[in-house]
This record gives sequence, C-alpha cells and structure tokens, in this order.
Amino acid sequence: SVSFSTDDREEVALAELSLDDAQKAERGIALASSVVAYKDLMMTYSCAAKIVRTKFEILDEEFRMRRLRNPIHSIDTRLKSTASIMDKLRAKGLEPTEENIIEHVRDVAGVRVVCSYVDDIYMLAEAVGRLSGIEVLETKDYISHPKPSGYRSLHLVLDVPVSFSDYEQKVKVEVQIRTIAMDFWASLEHQLQYKRGLADEDGLVAELARCASDIARTDESMMEIRRRIEAEADMDGL
Ligand code: GTP
Ligand code: MG
Repeated sequence: SVSFSTDDREEVALAELSLDDAQKAERGIALASSVVAYKDLMMTYSCAAKIVRTKFEILDEEFRMRRLRNPIHSIDTRLKSTASIMDKLRAKGLEPTEENIIEHVRDVAGVRVVCSYVDDIYMLAEAVGRLSGIEVLETKDYISHPKPSGYRSLHLVLDVPVSFSDYEQKVKVEVQIRTIAMDFWASLEHQLQYKRGLADEDGLVAELARCASDIARTDESMMEIRRRIEAEADMDGL
C-alpha cells in the first residue's frame, strides 16, 4: 500500500484504463488515505523517538545533579527509510501493512545514546526500564557478548505510549547505548563495510575485531581511573 515498484505502477496504470471514473476516484481516495495513514504512523514513530530522547536527557540531568557529572555524551535519533522498512517486511515474508510494521519492525524509530563510561550504559538502561509507562521488550547485550565483527553496544527495544489529543498509540523504539569509544569503532567499521562490503581478503575483518577489543580494554581502564578519582574525592569528603 505504500511504495510501488515500476512493474506494479504499470499494472496499476493498465488496470486504470478499464475503470470508470467513479472507480478511479475510489481508488485514488483509498491510496491517498493509506498514504496519510502511513505518514501518520511515521509521525508517531518520530514522536516516540523524541519522547525516548527526552527521557534520557532527564536521566542525564538528574545524574548530573546527584553525581556532578554527565553520563551521556550525546543522543541521536533516526527514522528508518520507507525502502528499508519494506525490505524488512519482504524479508520476513510479510505484507506491507501498518499492522505488520507496528508488530514486526522493531527499529523504525532508533535512538542512539552515547555515554562516557561502560558502567553508565547499564545504569541508564536500568533507569529507563524503571520509568513508568515504558516497557522493555528486549535487551541484547553485545558488550558482554560482542558480535563476531567486534561490535559492542547494549540494545534495548522499548514499547512507548505516544499520546495525541484524541488517541494513544504504543510503538516500539530501538535504543543503542554505547560508549564514545564503541561509537567511534562502530561508525568507522560501518563506513568501511559500506565502501568495501568486507569479504575478508586481507585479514581486515580480524584486524577490525582486534581494534574493537583494544578499544574495550581502554574503556575498562578509563572507567577504573574515574572510579579511583571518585574514591579519592569521597575520602577527601567531597
Ligand atoms: P537488523 O535487521 O540489522 O536490525 O538486525 P537485528 O534485528 O538482528 O538487530 P541487531 O541486534 O543485529 O542490531 C541491529 C543494529 O545494530 C544495526 O542496524 C546496526 O546499527 C548495529 N550493528 C549490529 N551489528 C553491527 C556491526 O557489526 N557493526 C556495526 N557498525 N553496527 C552493527
Ligand atoms: Mg536494524
């Protein structure tokens, strides 16, 4: 109902020839209303991403008041493109309907939370899960269980209610929480994959995985250093 391939378009055009004007008008209205419904749904996802962003910003504020530092370095949001949504439904053998998007595509709305330290990631994930109204549908810990590529991040799928003047809709939002260092690695690795579609010709895949574990060690060290500084500050009665 949402995007036509060129072939579909031709078929529709041919079909239109045998329709009388009333039927054409009806079809036009049906198409227009499904386009409106799709745009509405995407707007709902965009609002859900904004809500989740705000929840994390509030947690950041709260933590800054209590602990005198910001756990969050930056937050980004994105909406999945229509083409990618359609690809995902097709790959799952599902019809392109709003119901199937809502039910089966968990990453239409994406929020990426970049933290300073590894322990902040888990602190924020637990805190967001305790917020009223928000439900955690899924947690994937690619920090304790990195992907073969070396990819590290904590992924959550949240179910978020979005309230409008006359109705409320719950939609899923994918959250990726990672450190600045993990984000640096994931961004560059993604660019490299995109450029080359890495088949492991020159051992580059293994080299990238090695970089990821070096980075993970550095993340651990930075967190240890922060903890020692905090412990000294506590002893100084700060
Ligand atoms: P998708 O169909 O890609 O959404 O897979 P999935 O549903 O199994 O989700 P998964 O937990 O694998 O995470 C999906 C998202 O995590 C991707 O869209 C990327 O943003 C990120 N990601 C996962 N693996 C990698 C990786 O090896 N490298 C990079 N750079 N990002 C990754
Ligand atoms: Mg995805």
